[in-house]
Amino acid sequence: MSFSRRIELATWNGGQFARFRLLKLCANLLVPVYRLKFPQLEWWHDTDFNNYLDKFSERRGHNSDRRWIIHQLLRLTAEIAGDTAECGVYAGASSYVILKANQRDQRFKRTHFMFDSYEGLSKPNASDGSYWRAGDLAIDESTVDANLTDCRDYKLMKGWIPTRFSEVADRQFSFVHIDVDLYEPTRDSIAFFLPRMSPGGIIVVDDYWFTTCPGATQGVDEVLAGSPEKMLALPDGGGFLIKGVSTGRTAKLMDPVKEASSN
Ligand SMILES: C[S@@+](CC[C@H](N)C(=O)[O-])C[C@H]1O[C@@H](n2cnc3c(N)ncnc32)[C@H](O)[C@@H]1O
Repeated sequence: MSFSRRIELATWNGGQFARFRLLKLCANLLVPVYRLKFPQLEWWHDTDFNNYLDKFSERRGHNSDRRWIIHQLLRLTAEIAGDTAECGVYAGASSYVILKANQRDQRFKRTHFMFDSYEGLSKPNASDGSYWRAGDLAIDESTVDANLTDCRDYKLMKGWIPTRFSEVADRQFSFVHIDVDLYEPTRDSIAFFLPRMSPGGIIVVDDYWFTTCPGATQGVDEVLAGSPEKMLALPDGGGFLIKGVSTGRTAKLMDPVKEASSN
């Protein structure tokens, strides 16, 4: 790059480019595995979305990418019949996005079911690794209700997953968000909801392919082993599937079988 172009970029937008380069240098030194992304993202400046992030104190948190993808994926299910659900609610931040989509899409009158112990995580088992403890992320129902005062048509389903699933067993779903961190409740949630999704409906699993949630990934892959749909892993964590859309098997970028035969 020419010297004049470097100067031009360094002074661009009040020196933002130079500061970003410095940030990258520091990040590389402090946490080499960490990968920054380009800061010129349109959605980072979306006022509505930033106000929503502020409501849940998340603008500077680590979840905003996944909040955004839920918001976008919901657009794919605007014309799909069915109710919506979340397994693992915590303060209600993801449910809030789902509820706003339900309010926007007037074509269907949807109910949103929010399954959670409201006492935190259940007991991790051997496949869950060592990151989580029983009782982590406990939050009570009144906090969730207080966060959803401008929402309607939702039901808090307090209880350990899957005890209350039977109450929605005869319903069809358009969008389900699963976010319970652990093997057993993740496996039970996807096993229950997959057959109840309308064609074109979407299941998002927030914990898929997080190294802190090996059990959740295992639970998903076990359930999907026998189905044409597989999880598409998202770059910022989590994954989703579309009911009725066959998905290629999870593959490495280089397929060792094909590579070997072509040599
Ligand atoms: C990571 S938090 C959910 C975050 C939420 N989806 C969001 O978008 O902010 C995980 C939630 O799963 C719930 N949970 C974990 N294991 C559970 C189980 N076996 N049964 C019911 N709820 C469970 C916890 O109480 C906690 O609220």
